[in-house]
Amino acid sequence: MNVTEAIQSRRSIRKFKDTPVPEDLLRRLADAGRLAPSASNLQAWHFIFVTDPKLVAKVDLFSPGLSGHPPVILVICSDMEYALEHGSRNSEIYGCMMDASMAAENIMLSALEEGLGTCAIKSYTDAAIRKLLRLPNTYRIEMLMSIGYPEGAPRDPRRIRLEQIIHFNQWEEEK
Ligand SMILES: Cc1cc2nc3c(=O)[nH]c(=O)nc-3n(C[C@H](O)[C@H](O)[C@H](O)COP(=O)(O)O)c2cc1C
Repeated sequence: MNVTEAIQSRRSIRKFKDTPVPEDLLRRLADAGRLAPSASNLQAWHFIFVTDPKLVAKVDLFSPGLSGHPPVILVICSDMEYALEHGSRNSEIYGCMMDASMAAENIMLSALEEGLGTCAIKSYTDAAIRKLLRLPNTYRIEMLMSIGYPEGAPRDPRRIRLEQIIHFNQWEEEK
């Protein structure tokens, strides 16, 4: 699968098989995240894969955005202490979140190549997830991601037409 094929075929997956995902495969996903670009090459990210079924079920309880009972929930965090020490105020305001998003897309495309489905999740109760994962106070949760082998075909979401959003040189009315 080449990059274009991966970009064109990726869909958010919201229904998963129970099949567990091997740890070496999850390591490859983290490696794909690690290789993403980051502002000033800061790399303040941490990738926490929740794989223990009991813990997955608990995280699931506090993540209304999650669906389809994924066997793995990835929690992408930023170490804000590290970010403030090695980065700038902008790292805290937007840099770390943008970096985590870059890593997330790398992970999603790599997962697709491995036959896995993913869905980014921003709907969760921060305090509860922090407690369940025993996160240090200095860590900020940027997003959750459900990961697992897809069950059935995903829905095809509507996309805004290219001509409505593409511009060259200066903004102009839609053609
Ligand atoms: C930052 C972000 C947060 C998202 N949060 C959720 C969520 O909480 N629940 C959910 O079901 N999908 C969530 N999604 C998935 C989007 O709904 C999905 O990407 C969008 O509908 C387009 O569909 P596609 O990913 O299949 O192309 C999120 C996506 C992004 C990028």
